[in-house]
Amino acid sequence: MATGSKTAERDDDVESREAVVERLLASMTWEQKLAQLQIGYRPRLEEAKELVRAGIGGVFWPRSAAAANELQRAAVEETPHGIPLLIGLDVIHGQRTTFPVPLAQAASFEPGIAETDARISAAEAASGGVNWTFSPMIDVSRDPRWGRVVEGFGEDTRLNSVFGAAKIRGYQGDSLADDNSILACAKHFVAYGQAEGGRDYNTVDVSVQRLRNIYLEPFRAAVDAGAASVMAAFNTVSGRPAHVNEDLLTKILKEEWGFEGVVVGDADGVQNLMAHGVATDIADGLGQSFRAGLDVEMGGNVVDTDGNTPLSPAEVPLQRVDDAVRRVLRLKHSLGLFSNPYRDEASEILAPSGQSRAAARHAAEKSIVLLKNEDALLPLDPAPKRVLLVGPYAASSDHLGAWVQSFAEPAGTLAEAIRAECPDWSVTVMEGSPFFQSDPALLDAAVAAAAEHDVVIVAAGEPSALTGEASSRSDLRLPGGQEALIAAIAGTGKPFAVILFNGRPLVTSAWIDLAPSVLEAWHLGLEGPAAVARTLTGAANPGGRLPMTFPRSSSQIPIYYDHENTGRPASISATLDEGDIDVGLMGPDNLGDVFTSKYKDLPLGPQFSFGHGLSYTTFSYGQPQLATEELPLEALHSGTKVSLKIQLTNTGNRTGDEVTLLFIHDRTASLAQPVRRLRAFTRTSLDPGQTKTLEFSLGWEDLGFWDNEGSYLVEAGEFDIYIGGGLDDTAHHVLRLTQ
Ligand code: GLC
Repeated sequence: MATGSKTAERDDDVESREAVVERLLASMTWEQKLAQLQIGYRPRLEEAKELVRAGIGGVFWPRSAAAANELQRAAVEETPHGIPLLIGLDVIHGQRTTFPVPLAQAASFEPGIAETDARISAAEAASGGVNWTFSPMIDVSRDPRWGRVVEGFGEDTRLNSVFGAAKIRGYQGDSLADDNSILACAKHFVAYGQAEGGRDYNTVDVSVQRLRNIYLEPFRAAVDAGAASVMAAFNTVSGRPAHVNEDLLTKILKEEWGFEGVVVGDADGVQNLMAHGVATDIADGLGQSFRAGLDVEMGGNVVDTDGNTPLSPAEVPLQRVDDAVRRVLRLKHSLGLFSNPYRDEASEILAPSGQSRAAARHAAEKSIVLLKNEDALLPLDPAPKRVLLVGPYAASSDHLGAWVQSFAEPAGTLAEAIRAECPDWSVTVMEGSPFFQSDPALLDAAVAAAAEHDVVIVAAGEPSALTGEASSRSDLRLPGGQEALIAAIAGTGKPFAVILFNGRPLVTSAWIDLAPSVLEAWHLGLEGPAAVARTLTGAANPGGRLPMTFPRSSSQIPIYYDHENTGRPASISATLDEGDIDVGLMGPDNLGDVFTSKYKDLPLGPQFSFGHGLSYTTFSYGQPQLATEELPLEALHSGTKVSLKIQLTNTGNRTGDEVTLLFIHDRTASLAQPVRRLRAFTRTSLDPGQTKTLEFSLGWEDLGFWDNEGSYLVEAGEFDIYIGGGLDDTAHHVLRLTQ
């Protein structure tokens, strides 16, 4: 059964599970079966208890182990079949201990970070009675206007696949029956991150080849990793809302991939079908959803507090209902709920531990990206100096990021962390600019103060309230007067660094050339300020890389690294100079650079590319050794892998991490292929002078693509293999696949 942990359940567990499930199914009424297919949310404890007595199968976490036990007791002791509850919660990047936002974790290019987050978060949540998290979110997105890019792992399919699988392993552990394991939920199925205009919940219209090559792949990896559940997305996919999309929920997810877990709707996703204009009323919406393959509705529409349902076998065949109920009951059995649904209230974890804090800080340090460091201003030595820390993030504690719960341990401030890390510094803290307005007096005071200090640190960014669900932005520049503050500090001539705290790629073009050193510090969670302070002084050496492209302008979006070449790729920027505007003669003389794909008013390419990131040390690569430069397709299809080795050396004077990226480019194929596709990556820590040989392999599943007929193709021809520390500075090799 492809749900729950990758470790198959013991045979006797499976047998007892099937016996329990079939016995219950045989004794349940139509209404009792339907009630299992609903998770109620937002009810107060007494409301929730009423619904539980009516037989619903799941509830949202009622905020404590004691309350969870109360609801479980009501389910077990006050319903005809005593079926325990699934208790769900959005444990996205922490419960009591908050880890960096997922986009920041992706910047680490170290999946272990995500697995550790999930493992610790699951233990904290499970101790309170949570047994189901609605995480990981693995929606690939190339549009940072969409606020939910913060919740996923960026623009790359492989990165989302690898990090999503790591989170699932962390949440579900070796067995779902373990005390610290909870059900994972891969979401949002599917292509939610492709919303037009980057506007949340907006239309998604996507070709089959893109749907499969970009958006479905991470979910296939999630199912392979044993994801216990999948959540349907709010959006339409080429006209058909995901909640009622049988091609997606049943044909691909359940039949083609063999997914045997539970497909849960998103909050009110069925209700939304009326607004989509595909359902006339809630019974119609529920009927269409369950028929399409939804198993559990997240809302309050399947049964009421009297246990009555608007559905009859005319709307949903009994066989489909029984299949959905089996899926739900199997998960409950795999969790061990039938033998013990209760938690020991005295053992509930209510606060971070030293160990969980250390793990969160490690994750935060690994997620920081050094965008610029001219004149090697950073790291700052800890010797006594006068430091002006200015900006709305100087004294803000808003570091936990989107999707944290009110009960999460609050973070401290950057000011506190710097003072703790550098006791010999004299640190002055000033706001310089509010987040959302300009304040000339604050700005003037900061400029005046700069003259009295040796170095300035500008702490700028976007508050977490501007990120996450329903938080699309049309303008990705720093809000308020923060750009003016950076320019004013630059104008003082004092050495300065900018630290960005944000949950999405920002547009930095107004000031980036003025700032010699820039750290991308995201929303790093509970230990974010400490991680930034240690990075400022070099106690931690930044090694993160951008998991999403940073555009030059909001209107340059979508812009991403794995783009098609087009028939007229630009290699020369246009300008608004007179000569450029005058197109001059048409015809072949101009094809060189005029009639090519670019903007006349923007330089070519992004501000910062996918994979960009610097270090306080330097690295060099040897020549890549490809074990074979030519391989018959048949050998590849039968499982032969192409192995590739390359030597990496730390050529600097400080220990540091290097992220090595392996890209391919299929030069000629039946569908236009991206100029680069990330196929593998690794992060290596090396001491000064140390050399390590890195090994990679490429197989059938790495060198092919899906076509618009839904077939996976690997075609003969030449492949460019790029390997190195980023998109551009990479060694190159050619692999030939032959018929
Ligand atoms: C929200 C989100 C989803 C979340 C669910 C439950 O609307 O779309 O990601 O898991 O509701 O909170």
